[in-house]
Amino acid sequence: MAVRVDQFMCRSDNFGALVHDDESGRTLLIDAPEEAPILAAIERTGWKPELLLITHHHGDHVEANLALKQRFGLTIVGPKGEAAKIPGIDQSVSEGDAIPFGRETISVLDTPGHTAGHISYLFPDSHVLFAADTLFALGCGRLLECKPPVMFESLQKLAALPLETRVYCGHEYTQANARFALTVDPTNSALKERSAEIDRLRAGGKATLPTTIGLELSTNPFLRWHDPVIRKNLGMEKAADVEVFAEIRKRKDVF
Ligand SMILES: [Fe+2]
Repeated sequence: MAVRVDQFMCRSDNFGALVHDDESGRTLLIDAPEEAPILAAIERTGWKPELLLITHHHGDHVEANLALKQRFGLTIVGPKGEAAKIPGIDQSVSEGDAIPFGRETISVLDTPGHTAGHISYLFPDSHVLFAADTLFALGCGRLLECKPPVMFESLQKLAALPLETRVYCGHEYTQANARFALTVDPTNSALKERSAEIDRLRAGGKATLPTTIGLELSTNPFLRWHDPVIRKNLGMEKAADVEVFAEIRKRKDVF
């Protein structure tokens, strides 16, 4: 049986997530954006985390590290490439490292681009990915510390995961991402349908996540650098894939 995920809002648009394995009774937390909503989620679920898996060093992902460590004595795991910037870190990990969790072994993927040391966590048996600020629903993270080819490679890696992989992201940015996506891929019927569904969800105050790799491949322009219609719209029919990606990212930065 797959792990169970409880996703909840923190701050203005961050997500926190508790992951629970029913058989072992173990719980972990992905990122620590804000203490109060995390405590509320623990109270609501009854799932007490023993592990905190950090994706990258930004304040809106690590703010509650020390408070939660003091309260629960949890072990903090984070990216090797930016370990010095992760408060309270106990164990640093990078691509190829495995983290045992109940019946499942979590894989660490290096996914730099948004930050230089950003990592993602994959639960391969449950087909669940925590991509934080690398891959968003209909978007990708801003390139704050890296050049486009670095993020391009990270996104290629995630795009190659099984289509049914459920993807949890760091922020609820989907509605704004959809508006932009429609400017570069306006005739994509799957995107148009999804955009309408996103508007319905947001109007009802509901989260648009998780998404899946399959859904992103058919609608997210940041994974569709090969698409002839997008290329034509950008006037880049013969450009290299990475150049198409860089142009889409550049346009989104000023959208
Ligand atoms: Fe970030």
